[in-house]
Amino acid sequence: MLTNMRTQHELTREKYRRHAPSYDSVAAPLLGAAYQHEAVVLLGLVPGDVVVDVGCGTGSNFASIERGIGEKGHLFGVDLSPEMLEQARALVDSRGWDNVSLINASAEEVQIRPSVDAFLFSFAHDVLQSSHALHNLFKHASKGARVAACGIKWAPWWNLALNLYIFQVAQQYHTVQKGLSEPWGQLRPFLSNLELRLWAFETIYVVSGTLKQGTQDPVQSARPNAAPDDGSDRLDSPQY
Ligand SMILES: C[S@@+](CC[C@H](N)C(=O)[O-])C[C@H]1O[C@@H](n2cnc3c(N)ncnc32)[C@H](O)[C@@H]1O
Repeated sequence: MLTNMRTQHELTREKYRRHAPSYDSVAAPLLGAAYQHEAVVLLGLVPGDVVVDVGCGTGSNFASIERGIGEKGHLFGVDLSPEMLEQARALVDSRGWDNVSLINASAEEVQIRPSVDAFLFSFAHDVLQSSHALHNLFKHASKGARVAACGIKWAPWWNLALNLYIFQVAQQYHTVQKGLSEPWGQLRPFLSNLELRLWAFETIYVVSGTLKQGTQDPVQSARPNAAPDDGSDRLDSPQY
């Protein structure tokens, strides 16, 4: 299983090594900023929140997240692809955000020390299909953490033309091809109040919900979920 995961990660790195230089001009408009923005809004961010953008890529959601968390919050961008993260780094530097940590790691293995208030999975299909990744990520959650995800899915079966298009997009950007009927399916057991919205002839989904109690690591959840009110040094020693 570990070998499979490593091979899959290698394939993903290879794919995004090629996509990284043109991702923002080619893929991002295709995927849809409006849906990404909707997903971030559904996280209900407040100033001081700690957010993980899982499979953050070039950072196309960072501006929306930054607006929600303010200077006292912290954003962890996690991605397997060093080349995608290079683009994200350039964005962070150009915007002068000093509350962003970029982590080149897999969602299955990343370790984040502070309790996380919100997780975003924006067009991160491969991660959503990995229960290993979800278990690992949600260990780091604070009580009542919010989760939102958006991405592509199959249109109704009879819409063959649209499904051909979805097939082509998935081939280009996903390493895992399964799960396109209900890409958020593996989130179901973790979330209460799961809300689903569909757009673009049902080819785009946005889901959101609250992590169920007990999902998070017992040690983390026993810790008072209290970052200091002023947010000061809550992130002094992140693992990354
Ligand atoms: C389609 S891009 C989405 C990027 C960004 N979230 C967006 O909305 O534009 C998918 C990203 O997920 C990353 N990824 C795929 N599998 C991953 C994994 N297991 N752990 C971390 N990142 C992963 C890829 O490297 C890629 O940058």
